Amino acid sequence: MSKVLDINSLLLEVRNAVQIYIDLLLISKDDDDRLKKAIKYSSTNIGKAMRAFLVIESSKMFGVDTAKSMPIAASVELIHTYSLIHDDLPAMDNDSIRRGKPTCHKMYGEAAAILAGDSLLTLAFELLSSELIDFSSNTKLTVINTLAKAIGMNGMAGGQMLDILFEGQELAVENIMEMQKKKTAYFIAACCKIGGILGNVDKQSLSYLENYGMALGTAFQITDDILDIEGCEIKAGKKLRKDYAAGKATLVDKVGLNDSKIKAQELIDLALEEIKNLQCDYSNLSNFAYFIALRNLH
Ligand code: IPE
Ligand code: IPE
Ligand code: MG
Ligand code: MG
Ligand code: MG
Repeated sequence: MSKVLDINSLLLEVRNAVQIYIDLLLISKDDDDRLKKAIKYSSTNIGKAMRAFLVIESSKMFGVDTAKSMPIAASVELIHTYSLIHDDLPAMDNDSIRRGKPTCHKMYGEAAAILAGDSLLTLAFELLSSELIDFSSNTKLTVINTLAKAIGMNGMAGGQMLDILFEGQELAVENIMEMQKKKTAYFIAACCKIGGILGNVDKQSLSYLENYGMALGTAFQITDDILDIEGCEIKAGKKLRKDYAAGKATLVDKVGLNDSKIKAQELIDLALEEIKNLQCDYSNLSNFAYFIALRNLH
């Protein structure tokens, strides 16, 4: 339990530092137009910042300074915020509350929310390709390529499409798992792999990091779906108990709460097995896996 408390405070510390970085990044952007207001509204209220945490911690264990990984950590949170703004749109999940506040489109309208999402995604790649990234051009390119592959049509966007297409359908467990990997796990795995890329580690270590991230990311989506049933709305900062009515194809719907918890725990155990192969102090990543398991499952 104390491991989880430690990781909670470290996560909060990372979250606050990333929030400051993003706030500074957006400070010069004038506030008077609707698009910029919508962008600021959503990105000055980041969530848990777990993707940023994974970038920072998975590179720190290979000796990379937080100051150097910070702009990359901020970029992944900008991308994540874009994905949530679009996920909440009426054409997607039609949600009215995100991170404890009205969703972007509820505040600024659908057009501004779509464009705020587009702009945040673009801003992330502007930042990733800028001189603020203090790594070799080759490392920069590898980071950009890794992220782009994880969030596009064969990754997050593709998974989000499946999520919508699967609504109301009777599916095999394998189809549901594939959708969850695409919409959530590939991006999380990319954040972990980026740590290794920044740390200049060998191919084998990169694949341990990626496998850890895939297992953790899939477990994370399963627990998000469990939270939709069992969670507390105030803590989650979003409306819950919506997936069933929307006909979402979740593992919980398919196999029930108990078996979903077992599956999530198995994936957490798998993530822990993978990370153990690394030749460094991986304790923050293993404690983070315990944190994800405990967050929802107990
Ligand atoms: C929510 O992600 C979307 C999912 C992939 C389940 P998070 O739970 O990481 O959202 P924030 O950033 O903390 O708000
Ligand atoms: C969203 O999954 C996954 C994304 C890629 C954004 P959900 O639709 O379950 O996330 P919440 O519950 O709205 O945060
Ligand atoms: Mg969704
Ligand atoms: Mg949603
Ligand atoms: Mg959800």
